[in-house]
Amino acid sequence: MTMLGLMGLGVMGANLARNLADHDVKLALYDPAPAAADRLAQELGARGVASTTPAALVAALPAPRTIFLLVPAGAPTDAAIDSLLAHLAAGDVMIDGGNAFYRDTARRQAACGKANVHLLGFGVSGGAEGARHGPAIMAGGNREALQRLEPIFTAIAARAPDNTPCFARVGDGAAGHFVKTVHNGIEYAHMQLIAEAWHLLRRLLRLPHEKVRDIFARWAQGALSSFLMECAVRALDTVDADGTPLIERIVDTAEQKGTGQWTANAALEYGVPAPTLAEAVHARCLSALKQARQAAEAALGSSTIAFSGDAGALIAALERALLSANVAVLAQGFTLIAAADAEHGWGIEPAVVARVWRGGCIIRSTLLEPIAAAFAANPKLDNLLREPVLWRRVAAGDAEWRQVVVTAIAHGVPVPGFASALAYVDGLRTGRLWADMIAAQRDIFGQHGFARFDTPGRHHADWAPLDLSLPQGGH
Ligand code: 6PG
Repeated sequence: MTMLGLMGLGVMGANLARNLADHDVKLALYDPAPAAADRLAQELGARGVASTTPAALVAALPAPRTIFLLVPAGAPTDAAIDSLLAHLAAGDVMIDGGNAFYRDTARRQAACGKANVHLLGFGVSGGAEGARHGPAIMAGGNREALQRLEPIFTAIAARAPDNTPCFARVGDGAAGHFVKTVHNGIEYAHMQLIAEAWHLLRRLLRLPHEKVRDIFARWAQGALSSFLMECAVRALDTVDADGTPLIERIVDTAEQKGTGQWTANAALEYGVPAPTLAEAVHARCLSALKQARQAAEAALGSSTIAFSGDAGALIAALERALLSANVAVLAQGFTLIAAADAEHGWGIEPAVVARVWRGGCIIRSTLLEPIAAAFAANPKLDNLLREPVLWRRVAAGDAEWRQVVVTAIAHGVPVPGFASALAYVDGLRTGRLWADMIAAQRDIFGQHGFARFDTPGRHHADWAPLDLSLPQGGH
């Protein structure tokens, strides 16, 4: 029987321990709160043994040791690694299964490497349920160190609809944590789009709660079928003791733990347009300004005006728009992964990532199947929107998507997700953009130079002097 160490027995850690134990793995358990390790060891019987210190955890394991860390990202992860490293030997492996910042992972891998200890970075998705019954796992790090562990993690991972395991080594170094970060950025954007659709149906069209619920339930079974859509239906099906839908009593502020922001930061850092991934973060920040929004609405008046138009048409348009925008979000995520991979040389294959995301993770959806196929057929595909099958899906909703954005804007309803994703697709389809004017202005005020269509190289111009005169009688 394989034996692993597991450090950090919060909800995720404890559920992963149960999942591993179900698959014939014996576990040495450690948590800073000793009672947690004792309780879990008791629950797991012969498959769990509690350790009282990090040193004891290491001592309980046969060499070469493997210790899975499920501790909060940031300083607690550094502290956990340090507490183990002193006791580990060459060839031992630590796995960080938390939502770590990928640059921290790279730094920690380098530090562990000095002691010939491997640190693997696992992006683990699927929340508490996933950890218990099958998460999606995006593994990153040394191939040989991971090899002997692959059967275990393949066994505990979720299964895609075609029954293949949602576990894969996505690349070297910090690739696993970077891919998980972008997964979360996509998660933020898909949630934002669903939330905007909900808002338009309930607060612009003023449809009864039950009607919105039925629309969502229908969408969740069609082309929009996804785990997050199912979460939205569950949200609308939940009622308080007095029969009031719970959603009506939930404060409209969304919190965040940082992975969405890391994704947006990475997009800026690598110079990759990912406006909807960034907008989803800004939208959460905006939502957090609850008091300021209320005060401004009271002082300035609400931007939203009463709906006039064809409600049925808008409902139908929303379904199409959601699908198109969801694809645009995934296109942004995959281009970001490709840019980071080009910089770091992790060796990420986008088809492998798409395949892992088909099951177990938060962004799993039927859309990932054609995306995986598209990347498998053409690993160098520079943007998903250039793949004919996917483009046809986006284009099929083109008019409806515009209708949703135009209607929302005309009625004063903010839809940063739908609008930014549409601007992204339109921007990609506009061979000649507005940036000639930006280049000209930069050269005028800062002599920054510009490129010309007709002559290669960098250029400066002898710009015309300021003359604001207007033609006589002109307008
Ligand atoms: C997952 C989730 C998980 C967590 C998010 C929530 O893949 O299982 O992404 O990691 O739910 O980190 O993030 P926020 O608190 O930032 O919304």
